[in-house]
Amino acid sequence: MPIKVLFVCLGNICRSPTAQGIFQHKVKDAGLEKEIHIDSAGTGAWHIGKSPDSRTLAAATKRGYDFSDQRARQVGMQDFEKFDYVLAMDNVNLRELRQMAPSDFKGRLDLFLNYGSRSAHTEVPDPYYGGDQGFDLVLDLVEDAAEGLLAQLEQDLAQSQPS
Ligand code: 4NP
Repeated sequence: MPIKVLFVCLGNICRSPTAQGIFQHKVKDAGLEKEIHIDSAGTGAWHIGKSPDSRTLAAATKRGYDFSDQRARQVGMQDFEKFDYVLAMDNVNLRELRQMAPSDFKGRLDLFLNYGSRSAHTEVPDPYYGGDQGFDLVLDLVEDAAEGLLAQLEQDLAQSQPS
């Protein structure tokens, strides 16, 4: 069974698509595409079916990533049955997910940046109403935390191997 990871933000057009795209990139480079499945969703419904924000796509392109095939969706109860890791971009999203999660949810509900090494940042700031540098900061924070998350999942996979 693959480990399944869901990244969650508010609109699913800026931060969580960035996390999905960058983590997919790292997982592919590590040769773990079959072992780790990745998706993203938003707690809000405004942008369902939309592509990532054009500023997210532009900032990603500058670093050689392409997230243009992603489409926004809203997080739902079925996600708590499917995913092992549900990782929120900020505390507002985490609170919302905690309220939604069934009491028997067996996975891990956490802030994504808990896997990062940049201790000054515990949340990925919402870039939607700000300038371009906010989108670059999202990329910086996500690239860093994606490294730590991959290391954690590699450990999980090693522990689940029959010895
Ligand atoms: P995201 O950013 O949660 O990182 O996708 C936002 C996108 C849209 C809105 C807010 C945040 N909005 O208010 O429409």
